[in-house]
Amino acid sequence: MTSSTLLPAPPTDATRRTGAAGLAAALAAASSSWLELVEFHPASRWTRHLPTADAATLLDPSQHPELAAAEVWLLSWLPEQGTPLHDHGTSAGAFSVVRGTLTERVVSAGRTSVRESSHELGPNRVRHFGPHYVHQVFNSGEEPAVSVHVYTPGLSWMNSYRIDGARLVRTGTERAGVDW
Ligand SMILES: [Fe+2]
Repeated sequence: MTSSTLLPAPPTDATRRTGAAGLAAALAAASSSWLELVEFHPASRWTRHLPTADAATLLDPSQHPELAAAEVWLLSWLPEQGTPLHDHGTSAGAFSVVRGTLTERVVSAGRTSVRESSHELGPNRVRHFGPHYVHQVFNSGEEPAVSVHVYTPGLSWMNSYRIDGARLVRTGTERAGVDW
């Protein structure tokens, strides 16, 4: 008899990560429990705040302390829907694609130039970011997309930006939950 059958299963992505990324991964893994809440609105992107008590029912109790300091949003994206370039104020966070494919464009201002990168994010891809991270997220695919977003601490405001030559110029500040 060997002991190999007694070894615990290797951790999944949802359990290996910690913090906002761990919460986003775990909530994405539990999407079958909340996907029925998701709506698609052609006129504008749909967002829904998921109350902490509801999110807690989807998570392992070991993640509840991290959840208590976070805020969870569900988002849907029809083809061609997306955000402007924006940050998340002083909040850090993470998001995971659940359905479809999203494109993320990340922008940072250097001393003499603006650096950009972009990448496609398919289901179960998790991106995490720190405060003042500037990005734009949009659905450039042909299928509707769904994602779950975690912010720590909860969002208070976000700034929108445009690129002006070698500079990143702030174009506005919006109150949490209203327009992203
Ligand atoms: Fe964002």
